[in-house]
Amino acid sequence: MITLETLMREYAERTPESAALYGKACRALPGGVSANIKFFDPYPLFMDKGEGAWLTDVDGNRYVDYLLSYGPLALGHGHPAVKAAIMEQFDRHGSLLYGTPHALETEYAEKIKEHFPSIELLRYTNSGTEATLLSLRTAYACTGKYKIGKFEGHYHGGYNQVLLSVNPPLARAGAVTRPIPVPESAGLEPYQLVNTVVLPFNDLEDCTAILREHKDDMAAVIMEPLLAGYIEATPEFMHGLRTVTEELGILLLFDEVKTGFRAGLGGAQGLYGVRPDLTALGKVIGAGMPMGVVGGKKELMMKSAPVRGSDVFDMSAEKRSSAGDVLFHSGTYNGDPLILRAGLTSIKILEKEFEGIRARTESLKKGLKDLFAARGIAVNLPGVGTVFNIVLTDKPRIESYRDMQEADLTLRKKIDFALFREGIYNKPTNRYSLSTAHDESVIDFTLEAYKKVLARFQHFQN
Ligand SMILES: Cc1ncc(COP(=O)(O)O)c(C=O)c1O
Repeated sequence: MITLETLMREYAERTPESAALYGKACRALPGGVSANIKFFDPYPLFMDKGEGAWLTDVDGNRYVDYLLSYGPLALGHGHPAVKAAIMEQFDRHGSLLYGTPHALETEYAEKIKEHFPSIELLRYTNSGTEATLLSLRTAYACTGKYKIGKFEGHYHGGYNQVLLSVNPPLARAGAVTRPIPVPESAGLEPYQLVNTVVLPFNDLEDCTAILREHKDDMAAVIMEPLLAGYIEATPEFMHGLRTVTEELGILLLFDEVKTGFRAGLGGAQGLYGVRPDLTALGKVIGAGMPMGVVGGKKELMMKSAPVRGSDVFDMSAEKRSSAGDVLFHSGTYNGDPLILRAGLTSIKILEKEFEGIRARTESLKKGLKDLFAARGIAVNLPGVGTVFNIVLTDKPRIESYRDMQEADLTLRKKIDFALFREGIYNKPTNRYSLSTAHDESVIDFTLEAYKKVLARFQHFQN
């Protein structure tokens, strides 16, 4: 069997400039990266240029990009219409930022509402993290309760309440039916282990029992309706969860940061026909720039309306006294016109081209499935819409984080490193995202690359 050491040696031979830049980066940034997720062993590739479906690294190697920056680039790199929209903001409107309301805030909001009927009112944020954070604060403010339920294996951003049991070692994660909260970061407040209750995904019976126990303290259940963006909830689980949360007076928050405009134009909620109370969006809506949205029921979202009272910045005496009644939500860059213009442009293109990406995603999945089958490697390709993952397992259904732990991640990592040489980029073991730029020729190129890599593995096996 070809060893990881061989593949790493190959990697080092092809990427000396990335290695050198990484060495320099380590002198300026902890671990050489600006976000922990950007790191992989022995050092990450440093990219220099993007064009359509392609990335070029600093050593001049070209790759089809299936990371797509973890999903936002639904039109690929440097789409001319997005570029024109950004330039137009300068040319016609003269500034990047007004610090006042502007018409595009409403125009883009109406477009999002069209695709997400559960969203009656919305607010813009600067990231998916801020969006889920604001959705939780809204839930606390509206229910007067301060616990949340979150599912094992689900990610909602980088702050204390939700940095639990995203990727827990199973030895510490408790029973499958009663997961234990496992911190994912140093520096979490100990009370989060009590205030965040971890739930088993796709297990309605045990989930319901846990929710019943905590119903008097629990403001909301937050979830990725597709775990990690590609593992489906069963319709029974999803509809059952909606019913039980409603019955228990717990708000249901869909974190559609990954699935919004990817599982379908209307996100996972459109596919399931389930109306959450609040929805968080991010990634695709900003067309590659930092942006998030929180939206949902009018009666909940109105909690942040300053016309109801005031906010922390209002200095008049009578207003200050009511500041605590209004949900605080502000941000220098909220509703940034440049980002909204690029995002809205990108959504209008996706409306026409989404089905094409979805069809090509399916044809790539089918091609891959056949290639793995021909080599006798068990594979499951879970995913909906324009995202999927390659899970090396003989499990016919993957329904939870724990199912994922049974996959052969070592082989997957080796395949991913071997693919670098054939011109395919993804962060090793990450999910695949496609864009409008991933056309038939890109899919054919990818399947050819896989054919070579899998043949190489087989050759070494014999
Ligand atoms: C489901 C989900 N929620 C929230 C976030 C956080 O978004 P951001 O990285 O924009 O802060 C992410 C990011 O990957 C995500 O996948």
